Amino acid sequence: MSSDLPACGVRICGTGSYVPERRMTNEDFARTLDTSDEWIVQRTGIRERRICDPSREGTFEMARTALERALDSARMKGSDLDLIIVGTVTGEMTCPSVAARVGAAVGAVPAAAFDVSAACCGFMYGLNIAQGLIRAGMFRTIAVIGAENMSSIVDYDDRSVSILFGDAAGAAILQRDRDPRIGCLYQSMGADGSGWHSLYLPRKPRDVPPFDADNPIRLGNIRMNGKEVFRFAVTKFREVLEEAMKRTDLTADSVGQIICHQSNLRIIDAARERLGLPQEKVYINIDKYGNTSAGSVGLCLDELWRAGKIERERPFVMVAFGGGLTWASSVWRV
Ligand code: UT7
Repeated sequence: MSSDLPACGVRICGTGSYVPERRMTNEDFARTLDTSDEWIVQRTGIRERRICDPSREGTFEMARTALERALDSARMKGSDLDLIIVGTVTGEMTCPSVAARVGAAVGAVPAAAFDVSAACCGFMYGLNIAQGLIRAGMFRTIAVIGAENMSSIVDYDDRSVSILFGDAAGAAILQRDRDPRIGCLYQSMGADGSGWHSLYLPRKPRDVPPFDADNPIRLGNIRMNGKEVFRFAVTKFREVLEEAMKRTDLTADSVGQIICHQSNLRIIDAARERLGLPQEKVYINIDKYGNTSAGSVGLCLDELWRAGKIERERPFVMVAFGGGLTWASSVWRV
């Protein structure tokens, strides 16, 4: 995409998020698995994560609450929405989409609605698609939500996977604006399906590739080769962030906040150090929530937005990578 100024702008009108009340600390894991708080903090930066109470909440409820909060912050009603996009790989059902149910729950009918399956990039793919549709004149007001109930697809006997993930949802409401200077200045999205087996969610025996056949795999649970994903992520984060800043002429001084998908503190720190970015510009909340997949970028955005840390006129950058393998970036001026 070129970074030419669009004929109309796209305004972020409000944001919202939701995390379950239930906390799961590193000590909780150490009680049942051969692991420790020290190992988890050193290797990931995570201290605790939030976990859904399956008797009363899941992806749909988290997405709905995050959207209700975003609507409140935008002073809008569900009926103001023309389209709802939910990034998730943990929708309760493949049909209907989480987006359609959320739309009905907030009174957005007959707004269009669909889910995006791009793992940890789900929110960012949704955001990039949404702003493109607004600029193309097809929709005026779009809600984008990233929601993930990772605890429903994690094998809690697998110490190398379970300690990483938490549950959360984040939402943003975008609207067409007359000022063409505001909105998305640059976006990128990509995928390389040849690396799919680094991070996958098998449903049936034939989903498991031959080289994994002898490993203990539970169908319906996420399977991850942590080392492979780590290697891919360290390089991809740096490349994608560097390209986004270069294409928008941003430097470590001129850029505002940088929101990275909260995958692993070591992955984020590696990219930050390589690009010489100051620590205070790279937002971190992985210590409190773990890796919440598609929930993570929207949750960070909401925390920064509510804290008044997204500065007017100073562009901020969002980047993510995830299963697929997928990656995405988005640079915004508000
Ligand atoms: O959103 C995208 C999703 N995924 C990611 O971003 C994940 C990217 N990968 C990672 O974050 C890291 O690879 C992990 C945190 C998953 C693992 O860290 P690592 O430094 O790559 O550890 P490793 O897999 O190389 O394992 C080192 C050792 C192994 O023991 P041996 O073989 O050396 O005896 C593991 O069995 O650490 C062991 N290990 C653990 N030990 C204590 C693995 N998990 C644990 C654990 N506690 N929870």
